[in-house]
Amino acid sequence: MGNKFYITTPLYYVNASPHIGHSYTTIAADTLSRYLRKVIGEDKVWFLTGTDEHGQKIQRAADEAKLNPQDFADKTSLQFKSLWKALDISYNDFIRTTEERHIKTVQKVLAILYKKGDIYEGKYVGLYCTPCETFWLESQAIGGVCPDCKRPVDKITETNYFFKLTKYQDWLVKYIEAPANSKFILPAMRHNEVLSFLKLNKLTDLCISRPKERLNWGIPLPFAPSHVTYVWFDALINYISAVGEFDAKDKYHSKWWPADLHLIGKDILRQHAVYWPIILQALGIEQPKTIFAHGWWMINQDKMSKSKGNVINPVDMVNKFGLDVYRYFILRDVPFGLDGNFSPDAIIKRFNGDLANDLGNLVYRTLTMVEKYYAGNIPPLDIYGLKLNEREELIKKSIQGLQQAVYAPLSSDFDFSLALEKIWELINMANKYVEETKPWNLAKEKKDAELKIFIRLLVEVIRKVSVELGAFMPQTAALINEQIGNDSIKKGAPLFPRIC
Ligand code: MSP
Repeated sequence: MGNKFYITTPLYYVNASPHIGHSYTTIAADTLSRYLRKVIGEDKVWFLTGTDEHGQKIQRAADEAKLNPQDFADKTSLQFKSLWKALDISYNDFIRTTEERHIKTVQKVLAILYKKGDIYEGKYVGLYCTPCETFWLESQAIGGVCPDCKRPVDKITETNYFFKLTKYQDWLVKYIEAPANSKFILPAMRHNEVLSFLKLNKLTDLCISRPKERLNWGIPLPFAPSHVTYVWFDALINYISAVGEFDAKDKYHSKWWPADLHLIGKDILRQHAVYWPIILQALGIEQPKTIFAHGWWMINQDKMSKSKGNVINPVDMVNKFGLDVYRYFILRDVPFGLDGNFSPDAIIKRFNGDLANDLGNLVYRTLTMVEKYYAGNIPPLDIYGLKLNEREELIKKSIQGLQQAVYAPLSSDFDFSLALEKIWELINMANKYVEETKPWNLAKEKKDAELKIFIRLLVEVIRKVSVELGAFMPQTAALINEQIGNDSIKKGAPLFPRIC
């Protein structure tokens, strides 16, 4: 990892009802940002999120709400801002695609690509799914229905503007295949998926405009004000419009670009791993370092959607279980990249096991012993300078190695689950140490030196765990630090009382 880190989430459609899927990407981005701010410095991390506000879907939702689209977007983008507040998301910037800074950049990009000949006027004849705002080939829209939403597609003929994806297909394949770019698309299965798609299919140029008579709600093309920009082309550009500008010679300047990580869901991989790299290449702008596509949260193995009525609001989960429990669950339960099945029962299982039995118990029993044997004052002792027995040495080594053990999976594969597992390995080791040492016997037999080492080691484990846990579970880490961060402890109620 370099000395700065620019991380983005997708821009959420401003008409969406925020659900646990949206919160997933954002909590992951938040956790990594918090973690890296500690490692490379507060001002070295830039975390961008925002809302996607143009296009037919938004226009339609605004019509339904009897608002003009701008007023509608002003109102609904606040939903996301308040959700991120409730989830304590530490974003540095929130971009809306209706902001001037974004519109200006999109128009500049369009002008540059048009001047270069990479955008040209053409006739579009084809099948279009209006709800999904996606064009389909005859071979894809089998039976005349959209392969995604299964609603009928419309046959459309119109003058439009096209972006020359075809010109860059060979370049993109080579770029993705280059050994130096092995982390360009992660996880590996997504890298393979994009490569085989590009090898098996000839790209067609991307229709990047909509005639105003069909759609008015978008950014006008600077060279054809009769057309507005296709929402995906518009939205992707946010990643550069938020953090930089083009100069008079069409060169892009930014303190933060290239992005170190675009976090996305697997359903928007094509736009991010095919369209976006080609747009950047055509503009002569450096590629992002990594595009990571995570899996989906499903409900009873089914995708969540408004129309199915199975959408879970993250705020309900937070109100029920607590913010940190929710954050822990979604980052721990499923390896980042795979799909997961979401259920309150699965949260309860993690809660009673990992949080109550393991972490909560370790903290509570340690505080209880400090209270009982040392009147609430942690005995002074430098365990790092002492010769310890074999098992204690092992624990000491694990304490000393924890930072690296957590950092390694996070920095190499963005593996949040494995990073948490590493923290729990130490917690479990410490719990086992308590059970096997039987401290009550040490106390009874007046083995003072041993008891002191025992308590100090546990305190060190907990302190280290709380430091490493800070990015994942900020409130819990702060609470642990309050209870055991100073020489005199402040024992509170158990952190995670079991849920029956
Ligand atoms: N506006 C576009 C993205 C433009 S980025 C320049 C969009 N928005 S969205 O609101 O529909 O989806 C945003 C993100 O939420 C996507 O990454 C998507 O994968 C993610 N999720 C939506 N449902 C999801 C689950 N059920 N589970 C996990 N993430 C999912 O697409």
